[in-house]
Amino acid sequence: MKVIRHPDEMRAWSYERRAEGKSVGLVPTMGAFHGGHISLMEACAERDAVSVVSIFVNPAQFAPHEDFDSYPRTFESDCAAAKALGMDAVYAPPASALYAENYATYVEVERLQEGLCGKTRPHFFRGVATVVVKLFNAVVPDRAYFGEKDGQQAAIIKRMTRDLDFGIDIVTLPTVRDADGMAASSRNAYLDAEGRELGLALSRALFGARELMVQGECDARRVVRMVKEGLADVEVDYVALVDADELNPLMRVEGNVLLAAAVTVGDTRLIDNIRYEVGES
Ligand code: PAJ
Repeated sequence: MKVIRHPDEMRAWSYERRAEGKSVGLVPTMGAFHGGHISLMEACAERDAVSVVSIFVNPAQFAPHEDFDSYPRTFESDCAAAKALGMDAVYAPPASALYAENYATYVEVERLQEGLCGKTRPHFFRGVATVVVKLFNAVVPDRAYFGEKDGQQAAIIKRMTRDLDFGIDIVTLPTVRDADGMAASSRNAYLDAEGRELGLALSRALFGARELMVQGECDARRVVRMVKEGLADVEVDYVALVDADELNPLMRVEGNVLLAAAVTVGDTRLIDNIRYEVGES
């Protein structure tokens, strides 16, 4: 497995593989692998002839007060895991290779970036969209894999890929959860036993509300209220029921909905969501 550090080298390597007639798959990550990352890499290694995982803790998506410095970095064990999964290359550029001193160009996805996590993290999605464009331009993949756990991020990347004519197939995969139901996340490493117990309220509240919708509840406010009641012991950033494509808030539970929430436990921000298509059980 090759470790590639520079966008020019990455692009040259990818063009060589494509010239051999091979499809290239990309799994973008910030490292500190967990089950969610593993499932994306497994899908990529299985489907694409050549599979690349990028590991880059992207400074552009962290605000100055956020956890860029303390974000978990486990590069050696990540590389070992990627190799064991059959990935062909790790693309891990230093920040200086992606953001020169006078860096000035950013990508924004209007409307979709504004609600949900965008309200309290206004810098976040422009940082994500920008780095994903840069990863696409370096890796030149046929397909790229993202997790539904970051539902707003996946919707934004799909829209950006279409709007900017990348011609890349965006594959999204279901949220991987630990045995207790908590969505796997690199930030879960910040939680102690008590924090973990408190954080579990998030997935429990979302699944409780899903049950309410399965039973026929149509009033979005009641569904949101039920989630908030389940989150009484943690600090709630938002709970929202939106349509899964445009991310517009809904008054009624109809069509394909995304029920998403973000909470803070101690200093740790946790997000989770569930999708529900009216009529499904
Ligand atoms: P990161 O948090 O490392 O996540 C990398 C990919 O793993 C994303 O597509 C994310 O949605 C997916 N993922 C995370 N937890 C998951 C889970 N429990 N189940 C399934 N998939 C999961 O998301 C980012 O990095 C960054 O914003 C990035 C897209 C790499 C841009 O910097």
